[in-house]
Amino acid sequence: MYRPLLLAVLVWTLALLLLGSIVHAIGASLACPDWPTCFGTMLPEMTGGVFWEHLHRLWAGALLVLFPVAVLLTRRAHPERTALFRLGLAGIGLLLVQSLLGGLTVIYQLPDAISTSHLALAFLFLALVTVILVRTGPEADDYRDADPERRLVRRAGLVTAGLVFAQSVVGALVRHTDAGMACPDVPLCLGRVIPPLEYPTVQLHFLHRVLGIVVAVVTLRYGWMVVARTRAPFASRMATALAAGVIAQVLLGFASLAGRLAPPYVSAHTLLAAILLALGVAMATHAWERDPQ
Ligand code: HEM
Ligand code: HEM
Repeated sequence: MYRPLLLAVLVWTLALLLLGSIVHAIGASLACPDWPTCFGTMLPEMTGGVFWEHLHRLWAGALLVLFPVAVLLTRRAHPERTALFRLGLAGIGLLLVQSLLGGLTVIYQLPDAISTSHLALAFLFLALVTVILVRTGPEADDYRDADPERRLVRRAGLVTAGLVFAQSVVGALVRHTDAGMACPDVPLCLGRVIPPLEYPTVQLHFLHRVLGIVVAVVTLRYGWMVVARTRAPFASRMATALAAGVIAQVLLGFASLAGRLAPPYVSAHTLLAAILLALGVAMATHAWERDPQ
């Protein structure tokens, strides 16, 4: 009962991230000028930008109910696993801070730092839910040559997830400092391999592109190593999905530029970044030894 609910929380969170990204992409971030109400009511007329902005809030509100219930049910199923429960409590705290940040973005009219932190916390929460879900799944006993295989899979998951997270925070900075079209051309940047770097927006945009290539190369290399050197089916599936996903993500980045930041492309770009993070975290968590309790 609690595991399907945890899975539902994960999917709900991904949908919430997508909704948040759409809110920004269509310019509806301040469609509700107040917070926590929208035009002074919890039931505004759901039209235009208000539809997306308020739907994002309502969706977040439901998560604030769903996730604590999932944490309590997990606690009831595993009363001895205190570390897991503490992680759940940390997640509830994260959600509350995240909702506050969402409110502050509105009240202070989208300061770059708060909007970027809102994305970073959303990704951290997703990672936390992924850890709880995988930790409550079946024990990983499919590693042949236990130690080296586990270590490789753990490192592959951690490095990939860490790089995807860092790249996503840089991406959010690109987005919120309006550096998305600082280099409008692809694959070159302002017609050059290395663009003139005197403007901060070009620096940031170029950093996101270079880091994107680094993330892709490292993910593909680790993916190949995991598939070639381990027989663990879960790890191989995650590594293959990560490799395919990272290629699609680079292509979506290019498509976002070719489409001049059209909402479908940039929103899919945010969603896929979140999925890549969850895959990396799932892979690392699965290969982690279980706590003795
Ligand atoms: C009631 C609480 C919340 C409010 C009022 C709120 C509000 C907002 C607003 C106004 C934006 C657009 C920001 C911008 O254009 O800079 C946004 C985006 C977003 N929200 Fe929320 N939010 C809330 C809760 C959450 C929660 C709980 C999550 C995830 C766990 C979340 C994830 C996101 C994401 C991923 C974005 C896109 C950020 C980006 O494009 O960089 N939000 N939210
Ligand atoms: C491979 C790893 C990559 C990851 C994980 C990644 C992730 C992200 C994320 C999370 C955002 C912020 C979205 C938001 O705030 O909601 C973003 C923004 C952006 N990314 Fe990437 N990205 C990657 C590669 C690329 C590449 C290769 C390009 C192509 C040049 C690119 C182009 C962009 C652009 C233009 C934006 C700004 C979108 C906007 O202003 O709305 N990304 N990226």
